[in-house]
Amino acid sequence: VDALAARVAALGFASPALLPASPALDPTANPLDLFRAHITALLHPLTGVAPDIILPSLETTLLPERGDFVLAVPRLRIKGAKPDELAAQWAAAIPASDLLAKVTAKGHFLQFFFNPLVLYRLTIPHILAENSTFGSSSIGNGKRVIVEFSSPNIAKPFHAGHLRSTIIGGFLSSLHERLGYDVIRINYLGDWGKQFGLLAVGFKTFGSETELERDPINHLFRVYVTVNSAHSSEKEIADALATIDTSKSTIEQGDKSEELAKKLADAEASIPDLTKAAVAAALVLDPNHPVLKDNPNDADFFRNRPIDTEAKAYFKAMEDGDESALALWRRFRDLSISKYTKTYERLNIHYTEYSGESQVSNDSMQFVIDLLEQKKLLYVDRGAKLIDFKPYSKKLGKALIQKSDGASLYLTRDLGAAMERYNKYKFDKMIYVVAAQQDLHLAQLFKLMELCEFPWAKNMQHINFGMVQGMSTRRGTVVFLDTILEETKQAMHEVMKKNEAKYDQVENPDDVADLVGISAVMIQDMSAKRINNYKFDWSRMLSFEGDTGPYLQYAHSRLCSVERRAGFSRTQLINANFDLLTEPIAQELMRILTQYPDVLLNAARTSEPSTVVSFLFKLTHTVSSCYNILWVAGQEEELATARLALYCSAREVLKSGMILLGLTPVERM
Ligand code: ARG
Repeated sequence: VDALAARVAALGFASPALLPASPALDPTANPLDLFRAHITALLHPLTGVAPDIILPSLETTLLPERGDFVLAVPRLRIKGAKPDELAAQWAAAIPASDLLAKVTAKGHFLQFFFNPLVLYRLTIPHILAENSTFGSSSIGNGKRVIVEFSSPNIAKPFHAGHLRSTIIGGFLSSLHERLGYDVIRINYLGDWGKQFGLLAVGFKTFGSETELERDPINHLFRVYVTVNSAHSSEKEIADALATIDTSKSTIEQGDKSEELAKKLADAEASIPDLTKAAVAAALVLDPNHPVLKDNPNDADFFRNRPIDTEAKAYFKAMEDGDESALALWRRFRDLSISKYTKTYERLNIHYTEYSGESQVSNDSMQFVIDLLEQKKLLYVDRGAKLIDFKPYSKKLGKALIQKSDGASLYLTRDLGAAMERYNKYKFDKMIYVVAAQQDLHLAQLFKLMELCEFPWAKNMQHINFGMVQGMSTRRGTVVFLDTILEETKQAMHEVMKKNEAKYDQVENPDDVADLVGISAVMIQDMSAKRINNYKFDWSRMLSFEGDTGPYLQYAHSRLCSVERRAGFSRTQLINANFDLLTEPIAQELMRILTQYPDVLLNAARTSEPSTVVSFLFKLTHTVSSCYNILWVAGQEEELATARLALYCSAREVLKSGMILLGLTPVERM
């Protein structure tokens, strides 16, 4: 505290009264905390109210005319006195200081107006310092957090839910890093389950090695779609045949009901069409099918569900650790991961670990099942093990923990995975970034951890989000992340080309179009509260106007151009004469920049990227108003330097916020 007061004094101000170190404050890193420490140090002796009540009562305001901080006197809970009177009395009694320009009473509010010079002299050099840490904090130092996000399913499309998880999870990871945490990023792939048996059967009959190498994600998806549809047709006809069999035998036993007769007739009538469909599907899988090619009306062929049988046997072999079955699956997994890695790289996302459902050991799952059993939490129904959550919660229902054939389940795997992660990383907090459709699943998972009495169970967080409606490519087919990014890039490129003069200046238009396109995709996702559903809208996304990603990029590149044209050095800017920044709009911009460290803390509290997005729009809108008033070109050098220092600070904060959100700011576009 003394060192800080001395630093303020070194900037040419009277050494301020400051509250002794408080864990809630970080006044060296956060300029608003300096003012909090100061105001509280003044108010505490005057009011007799404890600092930990005063501190949270100091609130920032939206409009500068309301002050930089306001305090609603009733929040101090002083009995017997009229808040309005107290406000007036205190406003008059607060000693003059260099940090505060004035303190006024308005109704029962106290309004504090900062001395803008303090902010300029203190904060601009902080922002402009080499390797600036402005906005960072140390609240997470020594703590480790796991962020699990994206987690797509191999061989199924990377859908909007995965995209949102990727964007939000990437942001939360970076945010925690800025706040000093050690962050472990995990991608928990959907890479295990019966569908891999099916996929293997499909791949063996009609997959292509070359296609797999070239484009694993699309190829596996196509294989899966085809084999899955053959598998469904096969099930439909097998079901119809089974209905015929049981109906016939019931009728033979004397059942004369009309209803049953109709059921039989319907099933028999459906056979020709179902056969046609099933044969067609099976021939797509294997055009030279020895049985079906010659007997296109052979319904009986499907009776035992040959594809299903083979797929099950294949997956059973995988579960039993059969190396040859695992080898093909591993290739699917490895190739998909290397493809995903490239796409994630495009979004600046790197994982500490690609884990997945397949990586959870049978021992861990057995361990948690035994634990639950020991605690008498499970009951058996037809050989399966279940838990009834009713005694602990109304909403959680029942859940299957182990199937009768011993096969494990999504939920049990997740429980085993969490335990393994704790053993490996000893995290202080674990965040699951998963769509709100899985609210129940995560609530059940967290409850199970609690019932297992894992000491870390209380450190779980599910960060959920709403759905995206109507997300498809511009041509209307299923979306793969890459396709979306490719299309946005092209669309951006077309927009950029319209301004020929500017376009010629851009060295690598293709890369710039990609980065601007990515900003469009990301910002339209992060603009509103996570939980809101939104409609995917190409036209809104590709706009350079309004609150879009391209607009932020444009604002950044324009600030770069102001800086380029003026050509001052950083040292010149840091040592500028800030007393010349007298215009209210300059003060307003400074006020906004000062809020950045607080904005990051708020974003961490709410886990809402929109907190940062709205802040950046407020910042860029204010910068844009400054352009009409705070000219740099054609001004005296001293004034130009001071103004540029302010613009540069704005650019640094904008850049820092954009990177935090996962964007790569461009310098020209
Ligand atoms: N792969 C899952 C899906 O696409 C998401 C996984 C979420 N994470 C978890 N630990 N369950 O639906």
